[in-house]
Amino acid sequence: MAYQEVEKYSKPVRVLHWFNTASFLLLFITGLILFIPPLAIAAQDSWTRLIHRIAAVLLVAAPVIFALIYPGKAARALKEAFTWGSGDLDWLKAAPAYYFLADESAMPPQGHMNTGQKMWWFLTVVFGVVFVATGAVMWFARDTIAPTGFLWAIFTHDVAFIVTGAMLFVHLYLSVAHPLMRPLRTGSWSAMTRGTVSAEYARAHHARWFEEITAATHAQAAAANREKVLVGSHGGKTG
Ligand code: HEM
Repeated sequence: MAYQEVEKYSKPVRVLHWFNTASFLLLFITGLILFIPPLAIAAQDSWTRLIHRIAAVLLVAAPVIFALIYPGKAARALKEAFTWGSGDLDWLKAAPAYYFLADESAMPPQGHMNTGQKMWWFLTVVFGVVFVATGAVMWFARDTIAPTGFLWAIFTHDVAFIVTGAMLFVHLYLSVAHPLMRPLRTGSWSAMTRGTVSAEYARAHHARWFEEITAATHAQAAAANREKVLVGSHGGKTG
């Protein structure tokens, strides 16, 4: 069968993804410099602190601007990420056999986002709010908040840093390195660069979504055919 591709992510979604990746990595590196005492020397003249603040503004501004320009896309993605059902429980049960034993048959059919991707979304949105709230306290309320409140803000910011930093590496590993993903040929890497995945990858990893889009394509083709027939028969009568 000829090699076929389907679109998984539109261009604006990919641009937002890479923009967020760049600002998150900047925040992570400049945060790490503040977090690890021997590295703190690099933060002494404050340029890393300035970069941290600029990257924080970019990290928040990009999804807000995206949502203003593409409200439909933003609402659909949030709905998808925050809609959980019994299928997600099945994914969680199957995940150890799938990821550690490469037992692909254990995994139930997945939609456009699988449960792991939904968890990553959930984590980034929830911890995004935590970062903004605690970062704002450190940034703007340093001189006005009680010392314990300030320490709690730093502690919570650090917990969010450790959890999201660890999960970023899990996300990177699963997206670009896990053997089942075969990313550089057909999988998630091409989804985030060119926006497309092979039909074979879509069928194997996102079977429910693949069925939905093929059913929609067939319905469109059938409607177009019907239209042609109707136009033809109408033309025949009057002509
Ligand atoms: C998006 C909103 C964010 C805001 C507004 C923000 C703001 C801040 C501010 C004002 C500081 C204090 C810097 C200083 O001492 O001058 C700070 C520290 C820090 N930030 Fe962020 N930040 C944000 C996101 C992040 C992210 C995404 C990460 C990492 C993934 C991160 C990691 C850190 C770390 C590790 C520290 C050092 C805390 C400590 O002293 O123990 N921040 N942040």
